[in-house]
Amino acid sequence: MIRINHLTDIDTIPAERLQALLGSAEQYLQTPKTCPTFPNAQMATLFYENSTRTRLSFQLASQRLNMPSLALDSHYSSVQKGESIEDTAANLVAMGINILVIRHPDSDAPQRLLDVVGKQAAIINAGSGTASHPTQALLDVLTILQHKRSLEALTIAIIGDILHSRVARSQIVLLHKLGVQSIRLIAPNALLPAEVASLPVDVYTDMTKGLQQTDVAICLRIQKERMPPSLFPDVQAYREQFGLTPEKCQLLKPDAIIMHPGPMNRGVEIDSAVADGAQSVILEQARNGVALRMAVLASAAEHLH
Ligand code: NCD
Repeated sequence: MIRINHLTDIDTIPAERLQALLGSAEQYLQTPKTCPTFPNAQMATLFYENSTRTRLSFQLASQRLNMPSLALDSHYSSVQKGESIEDTAANLVAMGINILVIRHPDSDAPQRLLDVVGKQAAIINAGSGTASHPTQALLDVLTILQHKRSLEALTIAIIGDILHSRVARSQIVLLHKLGVQSIRLIAPNALLPAEVASLPVDVYTDMTKGLQQTDVAICLRIQKERMPPSLFPDVQAYREQFGLTPEKCQLLKPDAIIMHPGPMNRGVEIDSAVADGAQSVILEQARNGVALRMAVLASAAEHLH
């Protein structure tokens, strides 16, 4: 039986395949003109949550691979009539779609598609609930590797709203799988997940301590849409304690890089002077996202017929 290359989360993918995806993305960055083509693949993006970078970079990636693609517009589709994601996916597959890229507020949405159409189509997770965002974590590692020779010895700090962040969850799993020794989470207690004690991380509730000796600082967006207002009462107080300001950047290693998956709340989790400063690689992350998603789509298309 042919194995389809799904990407529903980082946990289930062997480290060698993750490394291969990173290597292939690097190739696409270096030689963008020598792309294979995938006429048998037909991608559809099913986005049930807002997105700018992820959705458009999947579309750009498919264009650059000469892979036909469609985007389901959930606002104008039968999603509004209550059609389930399982029925939607089954109908798209019946029409000939064989790569489904899904973003959904339910953490188990990619697995549900896998159960229904996983034998006929590759399922790619573009962000599921608060659980998982594998392509973001991979493009982040791709970006880190362009600036730092090897991952193992790095100290990488993930800062802010860890509780609601699927990006942080996938980053922790990926960084750990790839051998990073020192992963730090820096956040107020209220924004740390319950499972934090079981994660391979060091936890800091004090930015001054957490940022010291850090090579990579990853800021996360405060996800107000996923929390009750009581959890985040005071923007100014948050910025003072956990916002990455130019003063707090002084605590990092001098050659540290600063990242953010976007979209940013400027003046909350990150100051503009930092986001637009010399150490920021935030726009490189966006650029790398296209190449990384080309690698993911090409790998998904390999075993399709
Ligand atoms: C992230 C997401 O959707 O999880 N954005 C992204 O994909 N670049 C992070 C966020 O929304 O804060």
